[in-house]
Amino acid sequence: EAVSKGTYPHFMLKEIDEQPSVMRRISQEYFSSKGDVEVNQNIVNSILDSDRIYIVAAGTSYHAGLVGQKIIEKLAGIPVEVHVASEFGYYPPILSQKPFFIFLSQSGETADSRQVLSEVNKQGYPSLTITNVDRSTLSREATYTMLLHAGPEISVASTKAYTAQIAVQAVLAKALSEQSNYESGKEFDLQTQLALVANGMQEIVDEKQLLDDMSRRILTDADNAFYIGRGIDYNVALEAALKLKEISYIHTEGFAAGELKHGTIALIEEGTPVIGFITDKLSAGHTRSNLQEVLSRGAEVFTISMKRVANETDGIVLPDVDELLTPLLSVIPAQLIAYYTSLNRGHDVDQPRNLAKSVTVE
Ligand code: G6P
Repeated sequence: EAVSKGTYPHFMLKEIDEQPSVMRRISQEYFSSKGDVEVNQNIVNSILDSDRIYIVAAGTSYHAGLVGQKIIEKLAGIPVEVHVASEFGYYPPILSQKPFFIFLSQSGETADSRQVLSEVNKQGYPSLTITNVDRSTLSREATYTMLLHAGPEISVASTKAYTAQIAVQAVLAKALSEQSNYESGKEFDLQTQLALVANGMQEIVDEKQLLDDMSRRILTDADNAFYIGRGIDYNVALEAALKLKEISYIHTEGFAAGELKHGTIALIEEGTPVIGFITDKLSAGHTRSNLQEVLSRGAEVFTISMKRVANETDGIVLPDVDELLTPLLSVIPAQLIAYYTSLNRGHDVDQPRNLAKSVTVE
């Protein structure tokens, strides 16, 4: 069945706007009316029977895995490694005694991930595919499947699948902690947090104009740009940079804020856009001083943060959610920045050059 853009000029904008309702749908699908998390018991048992989770994915799904790692480790206390599928396929790490594999894939068809899954199956290890497409190849071939319930994603640049993948990994972490009695997950009120996230996302998408203005002011004519952050903000910086480069064709890097000074700061010149994610309380002060360093070298600085500090005028302040789930909000301005920059530079937003929605060759 053909999906329509409705009144939207592009699928990407429609899909960005759909994210609050995707969060609500995930909450409905994975929580009972009594508020209990509901995940197939066999998945929970199989993971709790393992000693380590290996997340394997490509592109935006890989970036969702990096955030998922932090969420699962924090809420469920299980060690997690995240790997790029095309690397893992040929250069696998030494595995733990009892590995459990999670494949993250919007389409469920990515060849690099399929190659790893077929090897995992040969070795007889248990696996779970988290995907948007029921009965896709990765879904059929893995031991278990959890669906994203995000609805079809048409734009090549992935948006709602990224946030859905993070939310579903949080659901999984919550279910694991309930079963294993792991304190920090048991105490985490995910259902309430997802409701806060949905409302917060809505507030941000309602502020689109601010991001269009910012893009016109500092990005439309740029050749290079940087997203920086620490911890979970660094994970989002990688996704934000991918989003911007794939549809605006501006060379963009996502950097660990503290690593910038070890070389890359040489690229900062008058007018270079540097966008800082500052949601992580532990490192907020350090990231702010990294932004000061680039500001004094002429960079155009914009912040995506949880609170405004005195001398920070150019930025967006995010609605409040638990620190662990801030990527679900902080990525939205970055998606909108990528959208408007692509549009303002006159590119084909939904069909960027050289890219395919799903890559079925290795
Ligand atoms: C392609 C798409 C990316 C996507 C990646 C992984 O490269 O252009 O947007 O993130 O494949 O796709 P998957 O369907 O496995 O999530």
